Amino acid sequence: MKLWGGRFAKKTDKLVEDFHSSISFDQRLYRQDIFGSIAHATMLGQQGIITKEEANTLVNGLKEILNDIKEGRVEFEVDAEDIHMNVEKILTERVGDVGKKLHTARSRNDQVALDLRMYLKEEIKETLELLLVLEETLLKLAARHTETVMPGYTHLQKAQPVTFAHHLMAYFHMFARDVDRLRDCYRRMDVMPLGSGALAGTTFPIDREFVREGLGFAKVSDNSLDGVSDRDFTVEFCAAASLIMMHLSRFSEEIVLWSSHEFKFIILDDGFSTGSSIMPQKKNPDVAELVRGKTGRVYGDLIALLTMLKGIPLAYNKDMQEDKEAVFDALDTVKKCLLVFSPMLATMKVNKDVMRAGAKGGFINATDAADYLAARGVPFREAHAVVGKLVLYCEQHGKTLEDLELEELQQLSPVFQKDVFQFISIDHCVKLRNVPGGPAPCAVVVAIKQGEKFLDEIKEW
Ligand code: ARG
Repeated sequence: MKLWGGRFAKKTDKLVEDFHSSISFDQRLYRQDIFGSIAHATMLGQQGIITKEEANTLVNGLKEILNDIKEGRVEFEVDAEDIHMNVEKILTERVGDVGKKLHTARSRNDQVALDLRMYLKEEIKETLELLLVLEETLLKLAARHTETVMPGYTHLQKAQPVTFAHHLMAYFHMFARDVDRLRDCYRRMDVMPLGSGALAGTTFPIDREFVREGLGFAKVSDNSLDGVSDRDFTVEFCAAASLIMMHLSRFSEEIVLWSSHEFKFIILDDGFSTGSSIMPQKKNPDVAELVRGKTGRVYGDLIALLTMLKGIPLAYNKDMQEDKEAVFDALDTVKKCLLVFSPMLATMKVNKDVMRAGAKGGFINATDAADYLAARGVPFREAHAVVGKLVLYCEQHGKTLEDLELEELQQLSPVFQKDVFQFISIDHCVKLRNVPGGPAPCAVVVAIKQGEKFLDEIKEW
């Protein structure tokens, strides 16, 4: 008979059995479920709600089950619906009727809310570890390329020169915000809902603080209805995961571009690229493409959660069982992507010379030519127009700004002097952009130092 079968005169239809069972996916909560039950049973004994002896029997039984699941000795049953009832059923089969006392002063509603919070807390820590590895990889790579000049783009048109280290540090900062977001989301998740019961708490004299402490939560939830209904934390996690994926995806897009024959800024390691079954010459950036492609599924998980939650009245509704697959999928995806991304970056070859050559064409120093005039008293708007005309002139004559003779420059503005050529040389253009947060080698060195400090602080968390 079902654990809840008392008021039913008929068996559950087989179709419904399969439809509503969640054991196929929520079995991954088994550790959290058992730890939660151990804390709960211990508390029941402590409070005299069951005897100390009974509590001991339950705790020992649960520990054995935990071990057996770890060793692969337990078969879960679809009939027993979910991980919570599977564990309880196995416990009762093993320890006898006392097993039926475990669920005193508890509901699956507060139990599942507890398990999922515990699970996500652990997983956030693992995701953070992976993000930190990525951040370290970026810092190391950046440190090697503070002098590597490359073209910076807007609209994917050459814009102004930057350094490769600076470009990498832009990603460092995106992922640093992701680290922050995950920590923030962890903090709000760190709330212990057990004791909320089905929705209205319990009549038993339970000790919620005891359970909270045992399970390592920062505080207990403040409202029993909210305690069982709140899935904000799953949404927050998926939102944070979506942003990580968005950042990885933009980076992936650049990796794909940079590794193309047209750019050749980088060469991916053979171990992190794949071939074609028909075109023998191919070496494809599949890892980056897959990361970019997988971003969509994480966004999908976020939207699934938001949509699932938007119309359900308080408190628990079975719709909420849908939270787990979305969270698990987002989690698995983001972790897998982070895991493969760092070594892909660490092993790629950077073609410094190609990057530098790329920074030379395309009038990338046009702003600097305008700045030259502006710094010598020409209003910037006028300087802009002068250089614009020079660019047009160059295009008509197949020249670059630095190819022009001083006389040609002076025809458009007498302010140009000989030193302009040094001023608009690529290295000088980059070197001069030394504002805090700028791409000049000396500014990026400072940024890298700050980045290292940030990572040290995070590690202490
Ligand atoms: N498997 C359920 C879930 O994941 C557990 C809670 C069931 N509660 C209930 N009242 N049916 O949401």
